[in-house]
Amino acid sequence: MEKLGRNDHCWCGSGKKYKGCHMALDEKIHRYELAGHIVPSRDLLKSREQIEGIRESSRINIAVLDEVARMIGPGVSTQEIDSLVYEITTKMGAIPAPLNYEGYPKSVCTSINEVVCHGIPSPDRILVEGDIVNVDVSTLYKGYFSDSGRMFCIGNVGEEKEKLVRVAKECMELGLAQVKPWGFLGDMAQAVNDHARANGYSVVVDIGGHGVGLEFHEEPFVSYVTKAGTEMLLVPGLVFTIEPMVNMGTSEIYIDDKDNWTVYTQDGRPSAQWEITVAVTEDGCEVLTY
Ligand code: MF3
Ligand code: CO
Repeated sequence: MEKLGRNDHCWCGSGKKYKGCHMALDEKIHRYELAGHIVPSRDLLKSREQIEGIRESSRINIAVLDEVARMIGPGVSTQEIDSLVYEITTKMGAIPAPLNYEGYPKSVCTSINEVVCHGIPSPDRILVEGDIVNVDVSTLYKGYFSDSGRMFCIGNVGEEKEKLVRVAKECMELGLAQVKPWGFLGDMAQAVNDHARANGYSVVVDIGGHGVGLEFHEEPFVSYVTKAGTEMLLVPGLVFTIEPMVNMGTSEIYIDDKDNWTVYTQDGRPSAQWEITVAVTEDGCEVLTY
């Protein structure tokens, strides 16, 4: 990191002197670093303008999911969901971030039942009563990324699956309740994992959330199985996703070796995932996508 004098212009571009701008914050972060904590680098802390950009992207992201909620149901193919996501996103002047991302062939992920995440929409997969499906929408608008996902129950899914979907949402919400400045990512993770385990479920270890905003996937990697008081220090301006994958059975997963994307539970039992994008603020946090 660049070493600035008290009277130099602040690194943030405000034009103010460093001592009247980010100096106190930098020093506070540095004290945590000296105490052995993982701290965010400067480039991960978004400015007010950047957060406003992510907020605008998030508005489109949510609007797309609201439209999906209106049309999803028995008899709808996952390809129809993909086409709708593409049309609405582009009509609003944005780009579906998954499309061509590292070779991903579609505009959205649709993950049904034992599919944990990264399910690829297909005209051959028609939703039927009893399916639980995660629709994960990621949006790029004017250079800013947003990311969120919801679960949908198709008709009557039965008590077991209904509970899994509900508890997965509670996990995300309990994690969110831990997000505040000068806490740690692990505080959020532990709240998620404790609730999943208390219900007899497991949380996927190998895939997690991520910083988001200027890139689709930024640092930090966001685990949901780490301990309170560990992992990255939460500093105002940090933006990341909370998106734990909660499995009814084992946390073990595998990737489809034919498409190299679709992630399944090892035991074939169902998995559920809700996702939000959240920004750490001076006095708590702001949920950008819900
Ligand atoms: N939307 C996923 C996430 O929450 C990432 C999907 S990558 C894709 O991070 F290429 F499959 F779209
Ligand atoms: Co994400």
